[in-house]
Amino acid sequence: MQANLGKILEIQQNQDGSHQGIIAWPENAGHVPAAGQYIQAHNPKEASAPAAVSLFAGGLHPFESEGRHFQTAPGMPESWLPGDTLLLRGPLGNGFYFSPGVRRVTLAALGPFGAHLLPLAGAVLAAGGEVSLLMDGDFPILPASIEVSPLADLSEALHWADYAACAVSLEDLPIAREQLSGAGGHANMQVLVHAPMPCGALAACGVCAFTSSQGISLLACEDGPVFDWSQIR
Ligand code: FES
Repeated sequence: MQANLGKILEIQQNQDGSHQGIIAWPENAGHVPAAGQYIQAHNPKEASAPAAVSLFAGGLHPFESEGRHFQTAPGMPESWLPGDTLLLRGPLGNGFYFSPGVRRVTLAALGPFGAHLLPLAGAVLAAGGEVSLLMDGDFPILPASIEVSPLADLSEALHWADYAACAVSLEDLPIAREQLSGAGGHANMQVLVHAPMPCGALAACGVCAFTSSQGISLLACEDGPVFDWSQIR
């Protein structure tokens, strides 16, 4: 896949110091990354940077915008500035998928990944559905139509939902498996495994590898980063 040029239009600094931005998406790069998908971005002004940066879709904006703008989740380096031109590879990976009949959706951020799940909320609300977001700690300003609860309510929220989407770091995956199983799991649930992805499926470096519940080795960058719960539990 060839790299395309995109320009950073805006950058937002969050309360926790993380940065997320809006990138003018190149005309010739296909569709804008969907919820759960990522891009590999390289800033040519940092020629000595060893690897591209993985940036995920984030926020409600992508489903509200008619323009070819890609809003990223937190993860943009502090040194990147509005106006910088980036080399972009993507969209990459399997994003979240839910069937059109789904009406009640629980989003559970098992770590600082609330923004990674919000593009789904935009899609569900636009289709007339209901969204419950579970996360601990600070959360972004959200429309009143999104109910926000602590992760302590996970069991109840999974029971309520037609579909559930979760996000967790690769490091915390063993804990998340216990947490989600302990809350009863869900037959219609997907999990975004957020891993370091230095090669982004180009060189089979194995940094993002983990073992599925069936004992199969999986790569977050290539087989995911969104997995069905049946692969994770
Ligand atoms: S990032 Fe190298 S194999 Fe996944």
